[in-house]
Amino acid sequence: MVDICVIGAGYVGLVTGACLSYLGNKVIVVDSNSARISELKHGKIPFFEPGLAELVKSTVGNKLLDFTEDLANAVKQSQVIYIAVGTPPLPSGEPDLSQVISVASQIGGALDTRCKRIIVNKSTVPVGSGNWVEMLVNQGLLQKQEKQPVALTTGKSAANSTANEAPTFSVVSNPEFLREGSAIADSFYPDRIVIGSNDSFAADLMKALYQPIIEQSFSRPSFVSHNIESSATVPFVVTDLASAELIKYAANAFLALKISFANEIAGLCERAGADIREVSKGIGLDKRIGQYFLNAGIGWGGSCFGKDVRALIESAREYNYPTPILEASISVNERQRKVLIGKLQEELKILKGRTIGLMGLSFKPDTDDLRDAPSLTIANQLIKMGAFIKAYDPVSNDVCRAQNPDLPLTYCSSVLELSKNCDALLLVTEWDEFRHVNWHDVAKEMRSPLIIDGRNILNKEELAKAGFNYRGIGR
Ligand SMILES: NC(=O)c1ccc[n+]([C@@H]2O[C@H](COP(=O)([O-])OP(=O)(O)OC[C@H]3O[C@@H](n4cnc5c(N)ncnc54)[C@H](O)[C@@H]3O)[C@@H](O)[C@H]2O)c1
Repeated sequence: MVDICVIGAGYVGLVTGACLSYLGNKVIVVDSNSARISELKHGKIPFFEPGLAELVKSTVGNKLLDFTEDLANAVKQSQVIYIAVGTPPLPSGEPDLSQVISVASQIGGALDTRCKRIIVNKSTVPVGSGNWVEMLVNQGLLQKQEKQPVALTTGKSAANSTANEAPTFSVVSNPEFLREGSAIADSFYPDRIVIGSNDSFAADLMKALYQPIIEQSFSRPSFVSHNIESSATVPFVVTDLASAELIKYAANAFLALKISFANEIAGLCERAGADIREVSKGIGLDKRIGQYFLNAGIGWGGSCFGKDVRALIESAREYNYPTPILEASISVNERQRKVLIGKLQEELKILKGRTIGLMGLSFKPDTDDLRDAPSLTIANQLIKMGAFIKAYDPVSNDVCRAQNPDLPLTYCSSVLELSKNCDALLLVTEWDEFRHVNWHDVAKEMRSPLIIDGRNILNKEELAKAGFNYRGIGR
């Protein structure tokens, strides 16, 4: 059992803390948002993530998971300290690292000599940030030493310090690859675990911590689905700090690029009379390409892809290194968000005064996350063009209302209510519920039964039978 503190109770930190406590470690999750900590202490999960409530409940019940605002005390109790705070994008495209700066210097100020600490950076940060976090922790330590002078060492070998020595620590990069909506399964059954470290003690401790996942030897939680073979082991990659940091950005950039590629080909399919679903299937069967992330639609969104691709471009710019492929993947994605509006114009001609229903708001299904959600770009654009917008999302209506109080959306509680008096429906988020709609009933409610399927998930023939004019993407 390792004493762990996870700083940041967001999608990454809370899931990481809950999973590590499920594996038998004693975990304390820290957040500076007191309302969030209070909610967690009362058993309330601050965002929608399937299975997380059950997982947290089980580990809190076993006294392995706790929550606090007191970062210093949590650091003192812990040997492994995870940084999992946000790194949102600045208008320039660079990540805002202020949360990491604040946390790293607070950790420095809280370190003592009880044992050597491993500071694990799970936040997505630009290449070189590991050394920079070490510097910030040292600065925090130095500030404390001005009050209590001791010799400063960032020792790389000793596992334990004595009372006469300076606190020792090692910074490790452990990029996170979980996806919202399947975050717990992604944490327990990952494709790989990456550790960036120049310190064998730290790398060995991280390996021991993740051993149950690497060997898949833990008892599998019943409430989490998985598709990993029981005999499989999870690759554990130890590399240098800079490579680990680049692995995270490069992985996200490649996934975003795959989607943009499928979308670019989808546009050509429409013009040439081909079907992107057939084309994606045909190319995805090539093992060198793979079948995932070739779905054409209205493009990617969420808190990671746009932010990480832009951050990678900005990192390259520091080295005066052009990145035309990364830039193209962003511009294709921006163009793609407007494709639905173009199709609406083709069908309805005039959008002013039309009523349009958005099916889905979150950037993808099984989450209530609206960060960089295509729905918001589309809604804002249509409102600017004079349309009246209704919206229905199975879980995100309240979050959207709270986060966008000035956005004039009329929120509905079902697809049927949404469709009432609509000139068109736009399927924006591929919630499973939308695959099981009674389209005959929906068509009767609409002014004109037009649907634009921005995720290519609906059955064109079934919709035609229900009287719909159906338009997909690239088909
Ligand atoms: N969300 C994802 O799907 C995902 C996946 C992989 C990696 N990441 C990366 O992980 C990091 C965290 O992402 P997230 O989505 O969990 O962020 P988030 O915004 O959901 O959570 C961040 C949390 O940190 C807390 N926080 C901020 N400053 C703090 C401080 N000084 N002390 C204590 N707590 C503080 C905030 O209150 C918030 O609860 C980011 O760098 C992100 O890029 C996210």
